[in-house]
Amino acid sequence: MSPLKHLSCHLILTLAVFIGAKKANEYHSARWSRCFYSSSNLDDMVLIESFYFNKYLFVQFNSTVGKFVGFNEYGISVAEDWNNSPFVISMRESVDADCRFNIRDRDPAVRDKSVKPKVKLSLVEQAGGSHPAVLICSAYEFYPKHIKVSWLRDGEVMTSDMTSVMEMADGDWYYQIHSEIAYIPKSGEKISCMVEHASSTQPIVTDWEPSLPVSEKIKIGIGVSFLVLGVIIAVAGLIYYKIKLTGQ
Ligand SMILES: *[C@@H]1O[C@H](CO)[C@@H](O)[C@H](O)[C@H]1NC(C)=O
Repeated sequence: MSPLKHLSCHLILTLAVFIGAKKANEYHSARWSRCFYSSSNLDDMVLIESFYFNKYLFVQFNSTVGKFVGFNEYGISVAEDWNNSPFVISMRESVDADCRFNIRDRDPAVRDKSVKPKVKLSLVEQAGGSHPAVLICSAYEFYPKHIKVSWLRDGEVMTSDMTSVMEMADGDWYYQIHSEIAYIPKSGEKISCMVEHASSTQPIVTDWEPSLPVSEKIKIGIGVSFLVLGVIIAVAGLIYYKIKLTGQ
């Protein structure tokens, strides 16, 4: 390599390192306001105002606490300054002035777009009819995505028996979810599926009504038919007997 070529090569390399270093030296500062609430009257509104430097959270205001809290030496000193300044007062007012003020208008617009799930309970028997079978609670065509499915035994939430939850996007803004439990029928107990979703202020509770298998239904149908037939013949016989008796 000639000295000149070597130099240019070195120059390009230096330049590349310089550009790379410049990119790596970018600093990242962020301030993030978040409003949390779950009740539609916005009573439980919480404001979390977070300050990050290079993605490190160093100071945060939590409206439940009502003051700034620092997470490193610098953050602690910043928090102390801000807690003794009008800034902390304006942050406390922000819960109303920003969170509630903005969400009061936006929440109904979003809430209006919610679509109530159609809930269906179904039983999947294992091959050979051996127990336990699986009871599936399916909620279809709801929006938005956030949903909670739980199982109730005689009105009490069951904690342990849930086996799997499958949540899927239908691809058309709607969602569906399927929750399964092992089902061992016990007489007298009531199993229900409870679905909680933004579309409904009340939980949607659907009771499982164990229906008899088709073969059993046919057997009962045949039995009832014979019973009815028997009664008709008996009544006819009785009438015939009475008529004969009065005719004599
Ligand atoms: C805000 O403070 C409350 C009360 O101390 C706490 O329960 C909650 O988790 C805090 N929120 C955040 C995001 O730190």
